[in-house]
Amino acid sequence: MRGLFLTLEGGEGSGKSTQLKRLVRRIESVGVPVRALREPGGTEIGEAVRNILLDPQSGGMDARAELLLYEAARAQLVAEVIEPALAAGEVVICDRFFDSTTAYQGYARGLNLSEVTQLNLTATAGLVPDRTLVFDIDSMVGVERAVGTGDADRLEAEDAAFHERVRSGFLAIAAAEPRRVRVVDASGTADEVEQRVWAMVADLVGPLDGRGSV
Ligand code: TMP
Repeated sequence: MRGLFLTLEGGEGSGKSTQLKRLVRRIESVGVPVRALREPGGTEIGEAVRNILLDPQSGGMDARAELLLYEAARAQLVAEVIEPALAAGEVVICDRFFDSTTAYQGYARGLNLSEVTQLNLTATAGLVPDRTLVFDIDSMVGVERAVGTGDADRLEAEDAAFHERVRSGFLAIAAAEPRRVRVVDASGTADEVEQRVWAMVADLVGPLDGRGSV
């Protein structure tokens, strides 16, 4: 039986990576195999592309070049990892997927939204997540959390207006596709957010319980 594809989305510092680890542990505890991935990355080619994308030295990157690099990393991840894992019946959870491209390159950079959507589907060969959770938090609180005391990467270093457009982009995506995309209030403790996350995937994950595999 085909597996389940979940994606976690949100702006910088929304806590989705922490929640991904918790969700993986929780699903694995019922004996179901889970594959955790991140975008851009998750393959050797994708990790190399990630380094180019996040390198603060890539300052002069054209918005279309940026778009195509994200899509290239995604195409490789879908073909090399996600489709085979789903075909093997695994639960695949990806930290970011094509909604990040719509929010960052579409809403925040201002590239044409229908072109971005078209390229998203080209990169994934039509694959769409079964459920997407958008972790919503005040955009500058998130950026400060993400950067911490270290150096900002190329995207984190964008200005406050950019990060606000990312946030409202994600909320617009959720409003447009309420069946697939759910918004998680990412404020509060990690335990509180974990409970909210579980409530939003339980209808999909619950039926897997006790079967040992999907
Ligand atoms: P992260 O893995 O630390 O969240 O870093 C990925 C960065 O890349 C983050 O700033 C969001 C950005 N991004 C895009 O701009 N477009 C995309 O399609 C994806 C997947 C990520």
